[in-house]
Amino acid sequence: MVAGRPAARSDTAAEAVFLRACRGEEVERTPVWIMRQAGRYLPEYRAVRERHEFLVCCRTPELACEITLQPVRRLGVDAAILFSDILVPLPGMGIDVRFEPGPRLERAIRSDADVDTLRVPDARESTPYVFDAVRLLRRELPPDVPLIGFAGAPFTMAAYLVEGGGSRTFTTLRHLLFTEPATAHRLLAVCTDTVSSYLTEQVRAGAQAAMLFDTWAGLLSPADVRQFALPYARRVLDAIRSLDGADGAGVPTIYSAGESAGWVEACREAGADVIGLDWRLGLDAARARVGRDVVLQGNLDPAVLLGPPALIRERVRSVLEQGSGQTAELKFGPTTAGPTSAGRGPRTGHIFNLGHGILPETPPDHARLVVDTVRELSGRPS
Ligand code: CP3
Repeated sequence: MVAGRPAARSDTAAEAVFLRACRGEEVERTPVWIMRQAGRYLPEYRAVRERHEFLVCCRTPELACEITLQPVRRLGVDAAILFSDILVPLPGMGIDVRFEPGPRLERAIRSDADVDTLRVPDARESTPYVFDAVRLLRRELPPDVPLIGFAGAPFTMAAYLVEGGGSRTFTTLRHLLFTEPATAHRLLAVCTDTVSSYLTEQVRAGAQAAMLFDTWAGLLSPADVRQFALPYARRVLDAIRSLDGADGAGVPTIYSAGESAGWVEACREAGADVIGLDWRLGLDAARARVGRDVVLQGNLDPAVLLGPPALIRERVRSVLEQGSGQTAELKFGPTTAGPTSAGRGPRTGHIFNLGHGILPETPPDHARLVVDTVRELSGRPS
């Protein structure tokens, strides 16, 4: 029923720069990809969406594959991210979801009795199309462009389940955390089991990196993030790490929380190889707080891409400078070079990205400019 995991392409060629950077190895240039790189700012995505609903795109492997490839073709990014959504596992748990375009859940989960109605689905039965899309993509993607699989972190999944949709403040969720913490923990456990099987299955199908989005963890204080978010994210990432052999041993993991500046050092506790950061904290300040033996991903303000090309280039340079410095002692990628200018010299410890998803208003040429500028400024002189 389940086809085997495709052979690692690195058997024959050098491993892709993105994967080597995830492992903290010294790389010839800083890899770059863009959060939400497949999406509404691309005319070719909007053309597909004119003919098919968003969830139909997620549930049809050929469409998900085509949309995933669109930014790879247009931008020349160093990694592809599966086209899907963090809420795709919800129907398998027993909660239908619509996108209008913001998510709207058929019902909310706010009590022990509600939690009892949830299932931990067998991911292969409830979302087979996701793993089919992964397998298809591994055949279609160029060998030097690895595929990132992803899921919502348990806390962020629980946030949508309690609220019944999106929210600016997630007050219902925060009310539950502080009035019925035992119920919240039961819900988080169900989300953890669901997400663990969903994400490990993506890796078994061929995803070459595994990313957890904890978009709403930034709502929490340092003490509460350690109670409600990080231990559950860690359990999911431990499940990925415990895969062995051809199932995906050694696949790098990325933990990306929104607005983590207040507790960025705690991100380490999720146990990921790479920590994703938004733009509210400079990469140099983040580095000082998280230490040297973890890779940072980010963190250009997506709104910068709405500005003029000269400004975009300057801001890309500044993120590269902050990301390139002072990482010479990375545990798994020792390098002899000290801090560099915008980007000359051995580079370790940084994957360029935006600090949050690309805005739908972004001119596609500006996204391309970001990718080209990272290549140009971070490549070593030949
Ligand atoms: O990055 C990619 O290119 C892969 C695809 C991807 C989508 N959503 C596609 C999508 C990824 C990685 C996500 C993650 C996601 N989804 C997150 C975590 C990252 C983040 O942005 O914080 C969250 C919180 C969601 C939930 C979600 N999905 C919302 C709030 C919305 C509606 C508003 C919005 O931001 O677009 C969605 C819908 C959604 N997910 C769209 C896309 C392309 C737009 C749907 C459309 O085409 O109308």
